[in-house]
Amino acid sequence: MKQDMIVILDLGSHENTVVARAIRALGVYSEIYPHDITVEELKALPNVKGIIINGGPNNVVDGVAIDINPAIYEQGIPVMAAGHDKALCAVKLPEFTNDVDAVKAALKDFVFDTCKAEANWNMPNFINDQVELIKKQVGNKKVLLALSGGVDSSVVAALLLKAIGDNLICVHVNHGLMRKGESESVIEVFKNQLNANLVYVDATERFLTKLEGVADPEQKRKIIGGEFIRVFEEEARKVDGVEFLGQGTIYPDIVESGTKTAKVVKSHHNVGGLPEDMKFSLVEPLRQLFKDEVRACGLELGLPDYMVYRQPFPGPGLGVRCLGAITRDRLEAVREADAILREEFAKAGLDKKVWQYFTIVPDFKSVGVRDNARSFEWPVIIRAINTVDAMTATVEQVDWPILLKITDRILKEVKNVNRVCYDMSPKPSATIEWE
Ligand code: XMP
Repeated sequence: MKQDMIVILDLGSHENTVVARAIRALGVYSEIYPHDITVEELKALPNVKGIIINGGPNNVVDGVAIDINPAIYEQGIPVMAAGHDKALCAVKLPEFTNDVDAVKAALKDFVFDTCKAEANWNMPNFINDQVELIKKQVGNKKVLLALSGGVDSSVVAALLLKAIGDNLICVHVNHGLMRKGESESVIEVFKNQLNANLVYVDATERFLTKLEGVADPEQKRKIIGGEFIRVFEEEARKVDGVEFLGQGTIYPDIVESGTKTAKVVKSHHNVGGLPEDMKFSLVEPLRQLFKDEVRACGLELGLPDYMVYRQPFPGPGLGVRCLGAITRDRLEAVREADAILREEFAKAGLDKKVWQYFTIVPDFKSVGVRDNARSFEWPVIIRAINTVDAMTATVEQVDWPILLKITDRILKEVKNVNRVCYDMSPKPSATIEWE
């Protein structure tokens, strides 16, 4: 690792990730560590040019006062801590802010003038470093990767491919609940364009059979998740000599799992559930990156825009958007309607603006007229929302003519559908998905 680093010690401030992102946006690498890091642990980190203690001394987390090990101040590394006597620099950071630019401005002098850090954190350097590290970790052994086509797994695949080529085995499981054209684009990009070793498994029948008649959303999720692990395991057993499992873990997954100081926001799950006898070591080359950096890394590695800027898509896929017990006709309707929505959003430039947009087909019918006769068919519900962290969400105010055009196309092109609705509900009280 050649790049300089600013270490942030976590005193329970919620803004630490904003501070880390701001420093990286200045071109200097930064990572967050627990407040009680030892001097030895600190010394083991490469090229530490400065330390930021955010939250101030004598912070209280869950009723317990915590502070930094005082020896940290004696290491000859500039320390910035608002309101602490021993700190070299006591610039106060803007409070309660998500504004990366404001934090950048507040930290610039400390990072460059006080710490003399060099702005050498950039994607080409990151990729070169990771390629070296992956080669060192893996040697000439094989790495298995579940490639869903999501941003994180796609970028990991591209990075591992650059590092170890044919020793990367990607497995793409099509559970039959993918969006239109999605599995095809995974095959096109990774197998045809990048020449990756890609195993494609069409498990549609297997999943749909298991899901037959199952209406409870959590039960559906359990079946899809469990079956996914079984299919992946079967493929894993067919490949000889695999010792490593590639994973698209990214930095927010690690930070949100909670350092010793920060409260756990959500627990982070690996591809859990693989049988006991299948022990792999993990390769997680994106574990230091924020989401926007993961996208920049993907672009630098030559992945297409649509893959790198893909909107979030739940693991159970269209399975939770075809409400109740999944039937093939409704699944087809939700897939076709979703494809129309995506096409029209892209034409209107909304694909770059709206965080998540999709269609839902519920398991009830309504009366309509078609060809002068009574019809009794499914409705399609459109949902388009904006959010920062998916914990709360607001509805996108899509222009009326765009909605009318999408409605017209859905009613003309999608079979078994006679009505289109727009979901106006924020989260809360609704959730983003319907199941
Ligand atoms: P909700 O519906 O809880 O969704 O407001 C929040 C975000 O999470 C996604 N989501 C899932 N992602 N597996 C996933 O990988 C799931 O079972 C799942 N359920 C919801 C949802 O698409 C939204 O972005």
